[in-house]
Amino acid sequence: MSNGMRTFTCEEEGCGAPFVVPVHRGRRHHKCEAHRPGGTAVRARRERIRTAKTTGAGVGTIPAPVTVESVAAKADGSPVAQALAEAQAHVAALAAAVAEAEAAKAAPAPAATPEGLTHYAFPKLLRHLRAGLQPYLCGPSGSGKTYAAEQAAKAIGARTFDVLSCNAGTSEIDFFGYTTATGEYVPGALYEPFKFGGVALIDEMDACDANAALKANAVLAMAPGSVYRFPNGERVERHPDFRPIAAGNTTGHGADSNYSGREALDASSLSRWTFIAWDYDEDLERAMVPPEAQWWAERVQTLRKAARAASSPIVICPRVTLSGSALIVDGEATVDEIHDECLWKGAPEDIRNTVLAYV
Ligand SMILES: Nc1ncnc2c1ncn2[C@@H]1O[C@H](COP(=O)(O)OP(=O)(O)O)[C@@H](O)[C@H]1O
Ligand SMILES: [Mg+2]
Repeated sequence: MSNGMRTFTCEEEGCGAPFVVPVHRGRRHHKCEAHRPGGTAVRARRERIRTAKTTGAGVGTIPAPVTVESVAAKADGSPVAQALAEAQAHVAALAAAVAEAEAAKAAPAPAATPEGLTHYAFPKLLRHLRAGLQPYLCGPSGSGKTYAAEQAAKAIGARTFDVLSCNAGTSEIDFFGYTTATGEYVPGALYEPFKFGGVALIDEMDACDANAALKANAVLAMAPGSVYRFPNGERVERHPDFRPIAAGNTTGHGADSNYSGREALDASSLSRWTFIAWDYDEDLERAMVPPEAQWWAERVQTLRKAARAASSPIVICPRVTLSGSALIVDGEATVDEIHDECLWKGAPEDIRNTVLAYV
């Protein structure tokens, strides 16, 4: 072009419009005025983008998102499709398992009648639990307290059964749990049954460190619906089906001649519990062993009575009956061996003689 102007073609893709520039200025632009910054075409495009962002209009066809199904469709029949199908099935199975576990947590198990043999005081235990009380089973070692607590948990359809076996080293951590350095919560024996409902057996409670028992009792005394803050910071409401049971060898008033190292439970601790005497049940003990071991069950019961009469520290409990019975069924041990290995267990001669004097 003459008269001092030159014509160029707009380089915007799809435009190609001619535009003129004075020759003396040289070529400063590659695009027509509409496609230069601030030009009409540029502003119109910006406006379209803004509208599309808010309404989705005018953006044309959005490519469909890539999904497992779309990949599977493309890879139809190939090993990739097969691997995808397997992965999908695995994910579905995991989701179903998680849903089932959640449902199981929420719903208590259906109630069942107690299985097997039961202690004479078992119906009393069930009554206390059904009444929402917290029974303390008090009786000598081997009288079947731990066994009965689990049996009762099943019989009332408790969702869980947790046992904390106490001793002088038991601390509140064992009851309530703790949080690790990495922030992970390790629950104690009370967390699950307190939150979701269930039986918590505080076994050998009279051997528990008194401070730990006091802290636990603060929670055990809470009414359903009360809230306790566990060490993970979670505020948990006491579930209406939370059923604590305690067991011990003494009445909670301190050590006696047979059970040393037992703590006198604080009055406020004791006041939380109802009391069920859980002595040896001789009929149950005989029923636990087969006919060929009946003579042994009777022998054990005779020696137990003698030991009590002699105020001997030796504990002759149904575990003696069960272990002797196992040797009888095995058929190899002599009668003396059964006495020595299952009953006397190395007791000094004078203790044996004192007991035998009362037979
Ligand atoms: N009802 C029962 N039926 C069968 N075995 C029982 C029964 N009660 C107790 N036992 C058995 O007797 C033994 C002592 O019972 P356990 O509950 O441990 O006593 P405790 O807790 O009073 O010391 C265990 O071997 C237990 O399995
Ligand atoms: Mg026990």
